[in-house]
Amino acid sequence: MAGKLNFRERWVLVTGASSGLGEEMANQLAAEYGANLILVARRADRLSDLAAKLESAHGVHCKVIAADLSRHGDVQRVFHEATAEHEIHGVILNAGITHFGKHQDLSWERFETLLQTNLVGVVWLVNNFLPYFAGKGIDGAIMLVSSMAGMMPVPYQAAYAGSKAFLTNFGQSLSEELRGEAVSITVFSPGGIATPMAHNSDLRYFENTMFLQDVASCAAQGLAAMAARRRLYVPGKFNRLQLFSSRFVPRAFSAALTGATYRKALRAAGH
Ligand SMILES: NC(=O)c1ccc[n+]([C@@H]2O[C@H](COP(=O)([O-])OP(=O)(O)OC[C@H]3O[C@@H](n4cnc5c(N)ncnc54)[C@H](OP(=O)(O)O)[C@@H]3O)[C@@H](O)[C@H]2O)c1
Repeated sequence: MAGKLNFRERWVLVTGASSGLGEEMANQLAAEYGANLILVARRADRLSDLAAKLESAHGVHCKVIAADLSRHGDVQRVFHEATAEHEIHGVILNAGITHFGKHQDLSWERFETLLQTNLVGVVWLVNNFLPYFAGKGIDGAIMLVSSMAGMMPVPYQAAYAGSKAFLTNFGQSLSEELRGEAVSITVFSPGGIATPMAHNSDLRYFENTMFLQDVASCAAQGLAAMAARRRLYVPGKFNRLQLFSSRFVPRAFSAALTGATYRKALRAAGH
């Protein structure tokens, strides 16, 4: 496996860069790593503002690609537009959505959107970036932004937890298949983060809890893990302690505890 990554003046693609973790990773990649950025999400105005800010503050170059990653045509376009003009060394597949509430209240259409965004488009991009790196002889790195929700049952986020479990197992399995090759895959699995995903939900739980990690430290740890070519990384001491403790707790108990917390929060929000 190749050594630690250097992103200075190299192009890194970040999906979901218009908000939350992706936006913060883009900020830090420009400010701390000196990387040029390809910023991808649906909200073009937010991406353009971010690009202008990063270019003027840090002297990096940015390219904006507005795309809906739940649509296969857009996923393909992102790959082709990104690779047409620039040589890419890092790919952060961060865009993701969730559904808080009973799985049965999630429409089929919304479920398909969740799967396409969190999972199908991600796998398509991985399938295409691996031969791209190999063909160009680039010792590139891919980060799959998963979640601790992919490591344990999360009632009332069932489809989300399922999609993240896929990403975690997919990424870890693929990492082993790539042993000895120049490219690395990092599965990054945060616990709760203080981002719009949590705060835009109407669950007061996220207003009151102290268990959300601040986005700056989460992003910093994710980028460091990717640069060091870690295969799986959970940021935050509290999250790692929770993960360690979960080895000694039956999954059924963990599901019941999480279920009870969410039921209370959903009831308080009038669901
Ligand atoms: N927040 C948490 O507690 C938490 C915990 C663990 C893992 N994560 C993971 O971290 C990642 C980032 O989440 P976040 O917390 O930063 O949430 P966020 O603030 O809601 O950001 C989500 C990002 O994904 C983009 N996105 C969503 N649907 C898209 C689509 N169809 N096409 C293109 N882009 C799309 C959004 O951009 P547009 O709306 O502009 O398209 C936005 O930039 C996700 O994969 C999430 O699962 C979050």
